[in-house]
Amino acid sequence: MGRFIILTLFLLAKFSAFQAHAGNEVRAPILKPSSPFSLALETLQKQIGYTFQSIGLLRRAMTHSSFSEENNKALSILGASIIETSVSLQYLKKDMEASAKDLNHRISEISQVESSCSVDAMRLGLQKVIRVSPKTNASTPAVVCGAFRAIFGAIAMDTGKSDDAGKVFWSVHGSEVGGAAAL
Ligand SMILES: *[C@@H]1O[C@H](CO)[C@@H](O)[C@H](O)[C@H]1NC(C)=O
Repeated sequence: MGRFIILTLFLLAKFSAFQAHAGNEVRAPILKPSSPFSLALETLQKQIGYTFQSIGLLRRAMTHSSFSEENNKALSILGASIIETSVSLQYLKKDMEASAKDLNHRISEISQVESSCSVDAMRLGLQKVIRVSPKTNASTPAVVCGAFRAIFGAIAMDTGKSDDAGKVFWSVHGSEVGGAAAL
């Protein structure tokens, strides 16, 4: 009788170990990015040369307010402010004697929704990534530009530093300027 109980316990232990193992195998693929949106976020991270610790921030950055309550509006404001700071810093580093007028001009140039901002956004292909409601045109300058700015807000939130976001901005913006010059 004692031997039977031991055998039963042994078999039960083996069986549950097998189940746990099989369970892991079933769960694993779910952790991999498989939806088109997740795949697009993976590609986007490679394009900008930054990998998020918290991918949820990039998901949010790529979500327009027409799509859900959880959207990129606030991240976009933070991102715009990071871009302005970064541009001002670089401009004054080059020329501390620059006039306020020149600096303001440079800031408004880089912040223009219709030009600089949406050009950068379209080059990254954000119009194909951003989630919008069916009635919203994802290619409009305001939508892509908001998403573009939100990327930098999201990076700042991810690292807790606006510096890192500024660096990514320059690498993305700089390389795209290079691309335009090559055309
Ligand atoms: C969406 O917006 C873009 C840019 O403003 C425009 O060129 C395009 O025609 C629009 N598409 C639709 C379906 O309205």
